[in-house]
Amino acid sequence: MKQAKMVIDKEYRISDIDDRIYGSFIEHLGRAVYGGIYEPEHPEADEQGFRKDVLELVKGLNVPIVRYPGGNMVSAYNWEDGVGPKDQRPNRLELAWRVIETNDFGTNEFADWAKKAGSEIMMAVNLGTRGIDAARNFLEYCNHPGGTYWSDLRKQHGYDKPHNIKTWCLGNEMDGPWQVGQKTPEEYGRLAKETAKAMKLVDPEIELVSCGSSHSSMPTFPEWEATTLDHTYEEADFVSLHQYFGNRDNDSQNYLANSMELDRFISTVISICDYIKAKKRSKKTMMLSFDEWNVWYHSNDKDKEIEPWTVAPPQLEDVYNFEDALLVGSILITFLKHADRVKMACMAQLVNVIAPIMTDNMGAAWKQTIYYPYMHASVFGRGTSLHPVVSSPKFDTKDFTDVPYLDSAVVYNEEQEEVTVFALNRHINEDLKLDINVSGFEGYRIQEHIVLENNDLKAVNTSLHQPVKPHTNGKSELRDGHVEALLGKASWNVIRLKKTR
Ligand code: AHR
Repeated sequence: MKQAKMVIDKEYRISDIDDRIYGSFIEHLGRAVYGGIYEPEHPEADEQGFRKDVLELVKGLNVPIVRYPGGNMVSAYNWEDGVGPKDQRPNRLELAWRVIETNDFGTNEFADWAKKAGSEIMMAVNLGTRGIDAARNFLEYCNHPGGTYWSDLRKQHGYDKPHNIKTWCLGNEMDGPWQVGQKTPEEYGRLAKETAKAMKLVDPEIELVSCGSSHSSMPTFPEWEATTLDHTYEEADFVSLHQYFGNRDNDSQNYLANSMELDRFISTVISICDYIKAKKRSKKTMMLSFDEWNVWYHSNDKDKEIEPWTVAPPQLEDVYNFEDALLVGSILITFLKHADRVKMACMAQLVNVIAPIMTDNMGAAWKQTIYYPYMHASVFGRGTSLHPVVSSPKFDTKDFTDVPYLDSAVVYNEEQEEVTVFALNRHINEDLKLDINVSGFEGYRIQEHIVLENNDLKAVNTSLHQPVKPHTNGKSELRDGHVEALLGKASWNVIRLKKTR
């Protein structure tokens, strides 16, 4: 059997983890809002039309921040359409996804929903068809206490207290030819900087995210970052990264190695940020907001059959399988390894649209396979990210070389006196023995070893049948300061240790 080793210690600190790396995303797209989080006619709907069964599943993920309202949709969105009396809100052609947007749900409803979900909001402004004026008015509407046109309008709409939304995205994927109002890096950089200046004059407490590349294979990457950050470096606090993965060639071993690409992408963006920092002799270090990530490919063909100009059609409804859950675990591990610079991240998305939570039109709500690693990381991955010193056997695939079979991250929660090892065995045919030297954690005992495994990499969860779910019968033993663990082939493991008195 293959063997891997790991040494962990309290002193090998990468960084405190910003909880916001466990964020998510709700876009006005498909059935994310309508028929997802909001369905007034559903038997489980509360007095505001929010589905309580969906809210319960969201709360299980402990989502600290949710990005809204898009995505591509935001680039032609008039935020004013979604506030005020519902009977006066217009139906609009929504250009990004070619549907009808009824505007029944908008900013204030989302703020209420986010409060119920226990999440902060990451709000995006439209820098596609609009600009400085719409952005500063929107911010005034949301955050200004009162006594001005837009803040008083919010009060008239029934929201006396400001929403105090702290995190704002300066547009979305403005490098992409699919974006309404795509910009060159120069155009975007100038517009984003001036918008940021105005927004920080309205509310200096906000944090702003400058658009990075839509993915690492964009022809304009990494020049996009270098040029745009040259403009926005002093005003923005984060640069965004987006990336989606797919196993289109049905090569699972290669698919599970994709964190190598993700790691390279993150490292490159960090280098560009630091280059601009040096160029500007700036004291500030730019942080990364990985505000769209997930697996997205299962639904691509089906989406081509959808008729345009309908309300909330079933778009981007990927049904995730077991191997997707493994990759999601590996992505979260990668963020933890970069916890010093990746300070926010959003799984795209949260409900129905490339999502961990699904609903159907029979009224059910259930957990997709990817729900579990996301939940484990979000619930147990809070505290300090430690650097595990790892030696693991490696493999080569079509796209990657020297890929360690063991992918791992370690989180130390000093307050709770807990250590959690997230360990993925990405060998699809063989188990892996793992020796973890924990002698630096005196008095700690294994509390549980959670495992997500399945003999079928393509197993999926549906409303009726959910074969992919974790168990707590993982094989780990603590002996002489070492945890000896058996990581089954293609398995996601969460080994939790706690100090016992
Ligand atoms: O999450 C789906 C879409 O992916 C978003 O709208 C867009 O920003 C990205 O291309």
